[in-house]
Order: sequence, then C-alpha cells, then structure tokens
Amino acid sequence: GDVALVIVAAGRGERAGQAGGPKQYRSIGGKPIIRRTLDAFMAHPAIGSVVTVIHPDDHALCTAALGPLCDKVIAVEGGVTRQDSVRLGLQALREAAPAKVLIHDAVRPFVDAALIDRTIAAIGERQAALPVLAVADTLKRGDGGLVAATVPRQGLFTAQTPQGFPFWPIHAAHVKAHRAGRSDFTDDAAIAEWTGMPVKLVEGSSANIKLTWAGDIDMADRRLSGDSM
Ligand code: CTP
Ligand code: MG
Repeated sequence: GDVALVIVAAGRGERAGQAGGPKQYRSIGGKPIIRRTLDAFMAHPAIGSVVTVIHPDDHALCTAALGPLCDKVIAVEGGVTRQDSVRLGLQALREAAPAKVLIHDAVRPFVDAALIDRTIAAIGERQAALPVLAVADTLKRGDGGLVAATVPRQGLFTAQTPQGFPFWPIHAAHVKAHRAGRSDFTDDAAIAEWTGMPVKLVEGSSANIKLTWAGDIDMADRRLSGDSM
C-alpha cells in the first residue's frame, strides 16, 4: 500500500502506574497491547511502510512483544514529548516518501479496518483527516470547586487517532513547529491546523479508546478474556 504508518510508543505511561512496565507492552487478552495495535494495521491492504517509535530503554521489550513482526517495522527512538516522537517517526519515512501517512497511538488497540478506511479516504492533497466523537456529556467549566458555567456541547468533539495526513505537508508542519519552539501541541491535527491545513472531521469509533489509566487496561483485559465485568 501507499499509506505509511507511524505508531508512537515511546511514552512512559505514568498515569497507568509503573507496575508491569510501560503500558504499551502489557498484555490484554493474552496479547501485548502494541501487537494488537500493529496487527490491526498490518491486516489492512492500504498500509505500506510502518515506523514504530519506541523509548531508548525499550528495545528488548519491543522485540519480545512484537516477535516476528519486528522484521516488518522500522523502530526509531522517540523524544521527550509525543510531538517529538511523531516528528522523529516522520523523519524516518522521508526516504520512503509516501503520499499519505497515518499517525496512531500504540495504546489504542481497538482501531478497526472501517475506521482506517474512513480516515484514509478523507486525506486530501492539502487536507488532514481526524476521527472524532461528538461530546455526549454535559460540559461544565469549574472555578475554585464551583461551577462557573455550562459550556454548550453543540459542535464540540473529542479527537482520536489514527489521524491522516498528506506526508510532506505534515512533515513540514512538524519541522516548522519544532523550529518555532512549540512543544505544546497535544495532537498532530493541531499542528496541521496551526499551519492552516484544513482538517476534515471523520466519524470516530466509540470502541477506539486510549488506554490511559490502569483501570482502562484492566477493563480491556477483562472484556477480551470474556468476562462481563
Ligand atoms: N508517546 C510517545 N512519546 C512520548 C510520549 C508519548 O511516543 N514522549 C506515545 C505513547 O507511548 C502513547 C501515545 O503517545 O502510545 C499517547 O500518549 P499517552 O497515552 O499520554 O501515553 P504516555 O505518555 O505513555 O502516558 P502518560 O502521559 O500517562 O505518561
Ligand atoms: Mg502522555
């Protein structure tokens, strides 16, 4: 396929707690999270070059988790922030020079083929694709432990990955953000927006949760193990 993939897996998983090591290498339903994530993409015919961005301390963990899959992915070392890790992953793809790239969190193992399809389909020559879910809960702004305001949720969405981009424009956007000393972007769509790139909203998937807390990992493990909780 002509769509490249950057999987960012260089985080330390501090919110999930240190027990059991970095969360992306823990198993759910008997299989490492990062391998589930990669399997979902490797099964997709559009995916070509794959770069996995890992922490310098994690080479052995990554090899153990991926097994034979290791030979099919390029591993590069990540940076201090997620933004740094993505930029380093994109740099590793310059020679392959794909037309499109998907950028995805290793800790979202429940990505599915339909979501990958929708995201790829919405990438344009100068347009990014962002899977989102409409905000379902009522939103409150807090101030000193009291409600300051109710924020209308109309038109508000939560952002997921995979996020899709034309390769050279997102590569350039990341280099520009880095040179500008910006390190506060929390996703790649925000960097695209900052450069004026239109970002198309795509229907996300409610199953496609990010495993952030220890409880998320426990719940995913129970669900995959056939427990009804
Ligand atoms: N990530 C990365 N490089 C970093 C920070 C994060 O590649 N310097 C990756 C994580 O490995 C994860 C994804 O970005 O796959 C989403 O980040 P998050 O859920 O915040 O993971 P962590 O940063 O590892 O967790 P925490 O913020 O709780 O420490
Ligand atoms: Mg983090």
